[in-house]
Amino acid sequence: MSLLSIVRLGHPALRQPAAPVDADRFDDPAFQQLIDDMFETMLDAKGVGLAAPQVGLGQQIFVYTAVDPDLPFAEDEEPELFALVNPALQPESGEMVYDWEGCLSISDLRGLVPRHPAVRVQGLDRHGKAVDHRVSGYIARIVQHEFDHLNGIVFLDRMRDLRSLAFADEWEKFMTSEDEDGPPLG
Ligand code: NI
Repeated sequence: MSLLSIVRLGHPALRQPAAPVDADRFDDPAFQQLIDDMFETMLDAKGVGLAAPQVGLGQQIFVYTAVDPDLPFAEDEEPELFALVNPALQPESGEMVYDWEGCLSISDLRGLVPRHPAVRVQGLDRHGKAVDHRVSGYIARIVQHEFDHLNGIVFLDRMRDLRSLAFADEWEKFMTSEDEDGPPLG
């Protein structure tokens, strides 16, 4: 496995809609390698999600984990990792929920972002098998953040009040309590 380099805001890949992955790619070892590399890159960057455009690839793929990357894993414990290919999201009704987010492609900034409380996720897993499930709360936030990356959207575009925008150091100092976890980075 190898680490991929994460592109930052300003790179055109982050602003272009990604293309669907062809059905014949799933059997390609290079495709499976890409998914493994995306997992490794995400975990190395202490992220909880990573979309293909963030490594400069315009393909409808993202990976995520529900595990806090700052916590040490037990020896025999593997973080649960998910890959979604050609996903579609269907938000459930309900009031939008605001919470802090950061992005591996906008690494220094944090902001309050409204997201749907729950979404239905449909798409394919890394082997091309159909996926159809419902996610809510924290995971729904990650999935919506990553899905946006496949459409050239970043969390800054979703903010409704830029006054909550903060540099990470200042956010930690002034905008959160000491025992509060940092926002998810995706
Ligand atoms: Ni992001």
